[in-house]
Amino acid sequence: MLAGKSVLIVIGGGIAAYKSLELIRRLKERGCAVRAILTKAGAEFVTPLSVGSLAGEKAYTDLFSLTDEADIGHIQLSRSTDLVVVAPATADLLAKMVHGLADDLASTALLATDKRILVAPAMNPRMWLNPATQRNMATLAADGVLVVGPNEGAMAERGEFGPGRMSEPAEILAAIERAFESDTRVPLPAAPAGPLAGRRLLVTSGPTHEPIDPVRYIANRSSGRQGHAIAQAAAEAGAEVVLVAGPVTLPDPPGVRVVHVETAREMLAAVERTLPVDAGVFAAAVADWRVDGEAGEKIKKDGTGVPNLSLVENPDILATVSRLAQGRPRLVVGFAAETEKVIEHATAKRLRKGCDWIVANDVSPQTGVMGGVRNTVHLVTGEGIEDWPTMDKDEVARRLVARIAAALAEARQ
Ligand code: CTP
Repeated sequence: MLAGKSVLIVIGGGIAAYKSLELIRRLKERGCAVRAILTKAGAEFVTPLSVGSLAGEKAYTDLFSLTDEADIGHIQLSRSTDLVVVAPATADLLAKMVHGLADDLASTALLATDKRILVAPAMNPRMWLNPATQRNMATLAADGVLVVGPNEGAMAERGEFGPGRMSEPAEILAAIERAFESDTRVPLPAAPAGPLAGRRLLVTSGPTHEPIDPVRYIANRSSGRQGHAIAQAAAEAGAEVVLVAGPVTLPDPPGVRVVHVETAREMLAAVERTLPVDAGVFAAAVADWRVDGEAGEKIKKDGTGVPNLSLVENPDILATVSRLAQGRPRLVVGFAAETEKVIEHATAKRLRKGCDWIVANDVSPQTGVMGGVRNTVHLVTGEGIEDWPTMDKDEVARRLVARIAAALAEARQ
């Protein structure tokens, strides 16, 4: 798939730049032509010589170098490629992209390109979680820029942990392949009309955090990717979408109103405030239990033994909405996260919770579903069970949204 393609890699200034060398090597192995631009800071981490040797062509660094301009020029550099990949994409480079700044070769090429851009962010967790960076990511997503990562993990800075590690070369490679697969897709900006025009949709997404004391909480591994993708796909299909999101590190999807919550009870309250809607999709991994009587102060290790946490059940948001006597959405879609007997449990769950459909997925650790980008789902409806092939969460979202649009259109007749 990559053979015969060409990729322009922009290497920003981050410790993760060394991974881009490996990425170039892997692209070349697959028959992909690679050109590379190094920012000034990028060249502090990897040398133009090593990049050029791996790419098989000199690395470009200087906007005003006459030979480069005579040779190829920044416009041509950014256009005679099939895809532009920014790895590592530093907070600074991302901000420049948002504002259309062009003060060096890398940012000029990014502004001048007429090709799709994939960014692999890499930065300190605080920089990634800073609202400025999150705003920038939302803007870039709205502009149709593709994103891979970042991953969560230990940082180069000692003792720091969190989201901000650049994706591994294999993950970036997979994202490049996906970008080529979907190359024919019309880029994002939502058409004002669409199969869900005039409909109102509610989506829940992400985990919930249930506090133990002011500094500790109970959580789960949900990334929110699937729920956020559904909200975005519904907005692209023309719906007015409210996304009630638990704590996630994803940017807010463009064109969607996002209500940020932390606990299951806050999520239920936000959902109730959002009703009525035509359809509700409950993709959040809501914590089943919370600590009974969260401590007002940090629980201290005072030598008298370990704290005894007693748990109480959280409200079931999906079941609550499914059972509403008044104001129940016409279509209620739940998710089932199962690690065994997936279909059997999901079928029982549909009846127990009173929803119309269940999207069942196998979240056992070996599937990589939790936190990953791909998903294998089964759609359980009153009519039976459909097994969907493994696909990207974005694609699951688009298919589900198309089904919701069809079901609502049928219900109206
Ligand atoms: N759900 C919810 N509120 C809860 C728990 C779950 O709205 N308090 C919703 C989820 O958003 C999902 C569905 O219920 O749509 C099923 O979630 P899942 O975790 O698979 O089911 P549980 O109810 O937790 O059942 P079990 O733990 O027995 O599998």
